[in-house]
Amino acid sequence: MAMYLFPFEELTKLLLSLLVPFLFTLFLLKYWKNSTSETSLNHPPSPPKLPIIGNLHQLGTIPQRSLKSLAQKYGSPMMLRLGSSPVLIISSNDAAEQVLKTHDIIFANRPKAGFVGRLLYNFKDISFSPYGEYWRQVRSICVLQLLSNRRVQSFRSIREDEIALMLATIRKSCASSSTIRIDEILATLTNNIVSRVAIGKRYAGEEGGSKFKEMFQEFTMLLGVFNVGDYIPWLAWINHINGLEKKVKKVAKDFDEYLENIVEEGVERMKKRESNEQQNFVDVLLEVQRTNATGFPISRDSIKAIITDMFVGGTDTTATLLEWAIAELLRNTNAMNKLQYEVRPFLRNKSGMTEDDLENLHYLKAVIKETLRLHPPAPLLVPRESRKAVKLMGFDIAAGTQVIINAWAIGRDPKVWEDADEFRPERFLNSSVDIKGQHFELIPFGSGRRSCPGAAFALITAELALANLICSFDFKLAGGKRPEDLDMTEAPGIISPKKIPLLLVARLPN
Ligand code: HEM
Repeated sequence: MAMYLFPFEELTKLLLSLLVPFLFTLFLLKYWKNSTSETSLNHPPSPPKLPIIGNLHQLGTIPQRSLKSLAQKYGSPMMLRLGSSPVLIISSNDAAEQVLKTHDIIFANRPKAGFVGRLLYNFKDISFSPYGEYWRQVRSICVLQLLSNRRVQSFRSIREDEIALMLATIRKSCASSSTIRIDEILATLTNNIVSRVAIGKRYAGEEGGSKFKEMFQEFTMLLGVFNVGDYIPWLAWINHINGLEKKVKKVAKDFDEYLENIVEEGVERMKKRESNEQQNFVDVLLEVQRTNATGFPISRDSIKAIITDMFVGGTDTTATLLEWAIAELLRNTNAMNKLQYEVRPFLRNKSGMTEDDLENLHYLKAVIKETLRLHPPAPLLVPRESRKAVKLMGFDIAAGTQVIINAWAIGRDPKVWEDADEFRPERFLNSSVDIKGQHFELIPFGSGRRSCPGAAFALITAELALANLICSFDFKLAGGKRPEDLDMTEAPGIISPKKIPLLLVARLPN
């Protein structure tokens, strides 16, 4: 998933200093325009806005938090204007249900924002492809061929292998009680799993691994970088001055060269493959292309875009979930004890717990759900866009309106959740609320037509990794820090990890 990094404070300062001389005139023009049009429509409530930047300055550095505060005052739905774009903000489960279920087909589009089109072969991926026949085809390849239950199961040994390697890395640190950056260890784990599944080789530690790592970091940064031209089109020229244009061109080219090689290797493999060999995603996509299995021609660019989507969607999201889970467990001794009690009977060999061991671990699954409630890795989901005008909860929403669903705020809504800000996995032990998109108070994977097709893949990886970590080690905060002093603020971005990474010391349990 891309990271929308909004440098709102800097941007607001820059714009205010550039634009003050124009503000008064434009304000008058805008006032005149608004007062002569659209008066009969019933728009959702909006906070007052500034000329030109609208409500951009109110998004703050952690938008999910600022948007939650605004919604407490203006309600859900609420309408903001980001530059010249109207953006509908959803902060309650009932409004989310309207968007994601009642009017799902109307809100099934994605806005064409940022540099996504330039980096993803003109929207040939799944996540950012506009709603329509192409998206339907690639989504169905993804759901039926790449991420089906059978396929996810078939990658079991890759998950177990990579988790065993992660445990070995941490075990080495135990001897010297050295400090570990668990976020980096988890990112390596999820990248290696997705990489082996998608392209058949590990991303770290292999030849070219660190080059790929660097390139991928740049790529995700650019996918999510704030593009001023999306919101204030006449300022788009800034990207030629700040170097973004040049960077996008270079990264798109480098990434394409890398993927071309990967696809070529796949073509060579296809010529010699035995029928019982395990296929990675490139192999599957080339097979779909060769046999025209879907009756829909799939181009090389589509293959490269879909593979990139798997990396973008499947790596940082799962690593972020795991980091938050460990942070919450360290702060909540009671929950940590209960989880240890559940998983420690499996502490029997060095290669760790297997997927067979997970079936009856109800507390583990409750810990994962509770973490996804308080810390959805994509707190504002992935933006949607209305395909036509629609009435939503009595309000008029125009065609082409961008929609942001604040899953972070919904997960902490005290009207729906008792002790909403507390980490209490027990709440899920005898509850029918699940995370599959049917219960709109808990939607970390979205819901409806554009919900996450990788949820099952992510959950099995997260459950197995967390169970093994808690089974195999006792963790303490490094530097004698107390759990109650842990800073739990989020970093900005569409994926929201901890702002201050968790530094830990691991010990083998007695
Ligand atoms: C904890 C892990 C994950 C979280 C929290 C997550 C979250 C999300 C969210 C919120 C959406 C947008 C849903 C909507 O608009 O309703 C999404 C879409 C998507 N995710 Fe995930 N995801 C995760 C893991 C994965 C994995 C492992 C993959 C693939 C390997 C993946 C691939 C995708 C794709 C392709 C889409 C786009 C679907 C579409 O637009 O039709 N995700 N994800």
